Amino acid sequence: MMEFASQHRLPHEQILLHELNHRVNNEFAAAISVVSLKAARSGDDEVKAALLGIAELLHRYADVHRALQMPEFDIVLDAEMYLRQLCLSISQSYLDERKIKLLLAIEPLRLEADRCWRLGMIVYELIVNSARHAFWRGEGEIRVELSRAGAFVQCGVTDNGTAAAPSAPGHGLKIIQDLSQSLGGRFVQKFGPRGAWSILVFPDDSAPSELAGRPRPRAQVSERATEVLHDSLSTVPC
Ligand SMILES: Nc1ncnc2c1ncn2[C@@H]1O[C@H](COP(=O)(O)OP(=O)(O)OP(=O)(O)O)[C@@H](O)[C@H]1O
Ligand SMILES: [Mg+2]
Repeated sequence: MMEFASQHRLPHEQILLHELNHRVNNEFAAAISVVSLKAARSGDDEVKAALLGIAELLHRYADVHRALQMPEFDIVLDAEMYLRQLCLSISQSYLDERKIKLLLAIEPLRLEADRCWRLGMIVYELIVNSARHAFWRGEGEIRVELSRAGAFVQCGVTDNGTAAAPSAPGHGLKIIQDLSQSLGGRFVQKFGPRGAWSILVFPDDSAPSELAGRPRPRAQVSERATEVLHDSLSTVPC
């Protein structure tokens, strides 16, 4: 660990976070290996299949955990691929079992790794919120849309569950607001009898001059811009 720290000159908190993530990854790997070993040793086909199913599920949870680790390098990522991979892992771990469909309409987009990760954290929390709070009767549908709109990126997450406006935000919505602000963006959410919709709008940092290292003009997203972009979402259940 010390060698890693001196090579990369990471701040102290980041080294601790790296170490913590490393341990969680190791623990997932250890649990998967124990369950797989038990499966291999079992003489009962039903038990074997159940244990292999659990090992597979643990793999998917580990994938989600890995995808949500804070990036350590300043690189530019393919945000479309990143979100597709994250959504696939969330589907396979949280949603498939509950018969919740995740539909994606994600356009090609490149983002700095740190901004891509913030976007991923927001999308993750919104999907998990829909899965936890929207579908009292079981099955349902969640849509994730990502597109460019002029100088901005818009990301919408909608579900077709039922929702009353929350009396108070929990940690999840507070973290989403913080992450949205740190992206220089704006986050709006509405709840109604036909579901919840959430939209995040933030400045697009993928213009060639910005990728070449010039300072990004910190465009502020106006409330009006968020409303207009929200109207262009293909699924608005409320
Ligand atoms: N898609 C949704 N459908 C219905 N209700 C929702 C939805 N998303 C959020 N909520 C409501 O908003 C509340 C606040 O959400 P928030 O993510 O802040 O907290 P939480 O999910 O309850 O807990 P956590 O701190 O673990 O995220 C939820 O408790 C729920 O009542
Ligand atoms: Mg939550």
